[in-house]
Amino acid sequence: MRIDVFTLVPHAYAWLTEQRPVAAVLGSELELRLFNYRETTPLRAGQIDDEPYGGGAGMVLRVDAVAAALDAVYGGTPDHRVVALTPQGRQLTQAIVEELAREDELTLLSARFEGFDERIVQHLASDAISVGPYVLSNGDLPAMVLVDAIARRLPGALSEGSGEWESFSDELEGGLEYPHYTRPAEFRGWTVPDVLLSGNHKQIEGWRREQSRARSLH
Ligand SMILES: C[S@@+](CC[C@H](N)C(=O)[O-])C[C@H]1O[C@@H](n2cnc3c(N)ncnc32)[C@H](O)[C@@H]1O
Repeated sequence: MRIDVFTLVPHAYAWLTEQRPVAAVLGSELELRLFNYRETTPLRAGQIDDEPYGGGAGMVLRVDAVAAALDAVYGGTPDHRVVALTPQGRQLTQAIVEELAREDELTLLSARFEGFDERIVQHLASDAISVGPYVLSNGDLPAMVLVDAIARRLPGALSEGSGEWESFSDELEGGLEYPHYTRPAEFRGWTVPDVLLSGNHKQIEGWRREQSRARSLH
């Protein structure tokens, strides 16, 4: 899969690309390309945003700057999905992550300040996705959230078995994962449930399912 991110801060992604699972699939299952709007903007002095029509605070990402960036890379609007990251988009869920992870190519558009000129969302993007009902300062943390969540779903990203029985997975009926414990078996009088120390795998599986269902009711 190839993910292209359009941003003003390509260098900010260095941390992400050094971490697993992204690092584990880069160069094999995942190609990640980073493009800076400033390098292709048709405006002078690298301008990419402007004052809002109608007045008001803040700066708005210009449609011509984003169109020029897409033209430079794809020779026009790409025929694969182009996701505008915006708090006004469809709220991200694991089901959306699974859906996007099945794409061969994906483009993510990040904005800052007041956000996108609406024509970018309407005409240049195919999807608008939010990472939650709160406002962040720019679309780069949301883009990294998406890249990380998608990378986990690519073959070879995780050690065998660790990606299946996770919160929101089909294996757990879309619910939350059961609790985990590790050594020591007792700490400050806080003990580990006996069943997990029993070695009875059938009982452990039953207990985990019960716990997962109980947690998912809230
Ligand atoms: C300060 S926000 C703009 C908020 C916009 N003025 C509004 O009220 O809806 C700047 C940019 O950060 C990104 N962003 C902020 N919060 C986000 C969220 N919850 N999900 C996805 N992107 C977000 C978007 O790219 C957005 O255009």
